[in-house]
Amino acid sequence: MTDTVVRKAIVTGASTGIGAVYARKLAKRGYDLVAVARNAARLEANAREIREETGRAVEVIVSDLSKSTEVTKLAQRVTEDSTIAFLVNNAGVSSYGGMLQNTLADAESLIAVNVTAPTLLSIAAAKAFVARGGGAVVNISSITSFAPEMFDGAYSGSKNYLLNLTVSLAGSTKDAGVRFQVVLPGPIDTEMWARARVPESVIPRSKIMSPEDLVEAAFVGFDRGEVVTLPAVADENVWTSYEAARQALRPYLAAGQPAPRYRALSRT
Ligand SMILES: NC(=O)c1ccc[n+]([C@@H]2O[C@H](COP(=O)([O-])OP(=O)(O)OC[C@H]3O[C@@H](n4cnc5c(N)ncnc54)[C@H](OP(=O)(O)O)[C@@H]3O)[C@@H](O)[C@H]2O)c1
Repeated sequence: MTDTVVRKAIVTGASTGIGAVYARKLAKRGYDLVAVARNAARLEANAREIREETGRAVEVIVSDLSKSTEVTKLAQRVTEDSTIAFLVNNAGVSSYGGMLQNTLADAESLIAVNVTAPTLLSIAAAKAFVARGGGAVVNISSITSFAPEMFDGAYSGSKNYLLNLTVSLAGSTKDAGVRFQVVLPGPIDTEMWARARVPESVIPRSKIMSPEDLVEAAFVGFDRGEVVTLPAVADENVWTSYEAARQALRPYLAAGQPAPRYRALSRT
C-alpha cells in the first residue's frame, strides 16, 4: 500500500551547502519539499534534480530572510499549511572579518538571518506542530557556540542562541510529540568560508567534514532521539561531562546575596 499522506519539509538556505543536502535527504525520506533561499536559479536547479531523483514535489520560495516581512510570510505558511511536518532552519551567514572591521548594518543583518528568522520560524512551528500533534524542527547551530574565542562573537553568539532556543523549545514541546534538534557542525566544506572571505589555510583540511557526512550524521542523531547533536565529537563522554558540569552549576546560580568575593571590603 502506498503512503498517500502528504508531509512537507521546509528547508531554509536550500540553494547550496548544508541546506541543499538536507533538502535531498528529506525528499529521500519521503517528504515533499519547500526550498527557501534568495538564489532562484540555484533553487530551481536543485528542485529539478530532486524531483527527478526522488519523484517528490518540490516548491521553490525565493525569499530574503534578512527582511522581516518575508520571515513573517514564511512563518504564516508554517502556521497555515497543515501538511508541513518538518522545518530545517539552516540559512545562515558568517561575517566578513572581525566585529571591529564590520559595519553595524553587517551585525544587524547577521542577527536578522541567524537569530530573528529561525526564532520566529521555530516558535511558529512549535505552536503549529503542538496543535497538529507532531512534527520536527532542526536548527543548524555551530561548534563556535562553545568557542566564543573563535571568529567573531556576533556569529558564535547567534549560534549559541540557537542552542538555548532549541533546548528550551524541545523541553516545552516533547509531551506533544514534537521533536526539536540542534545540530552543531564543526568546519564543513561549503561556500560559507569563501563568502566570509576566510582564507582556506585557517582550518587544516583534515578537520573539514563534507556536508553529506554532516547531514547523514545529523539524521543518525535525530533518529537516536538527540536534542543536541555534535557530529564531530568522537568521545561522547566529553559532551556528557560538559553537560554534567553545566547542570552542577545550576543550584549555585541564584542567591539572595552577593557571593563573598563580591562583597566590598568596606562599604561607603
Ligand atoms: N560551513 C561551515 O563550516 C559551518 C559550520 C557550522 C555551522 N554552519 C551553519 O550551517 C548553515 C549553512 O551554512 P553552509 O555552510 O551551508 O553555508 P553556505 O554554503 O554559504 O549556504 C548558506 C545558505 O543560506 C542561504 N542564505 C544566506 N543568507 C540568506 C538570506 N538572507 N535569506 C535566505 N537565505 C539565505 C544561502 O542561500 P542564498 O545565497 O541563495 O540566499 C545558502 O543557501 C549556516 O547556518 C551556518 O552558520 C556552517
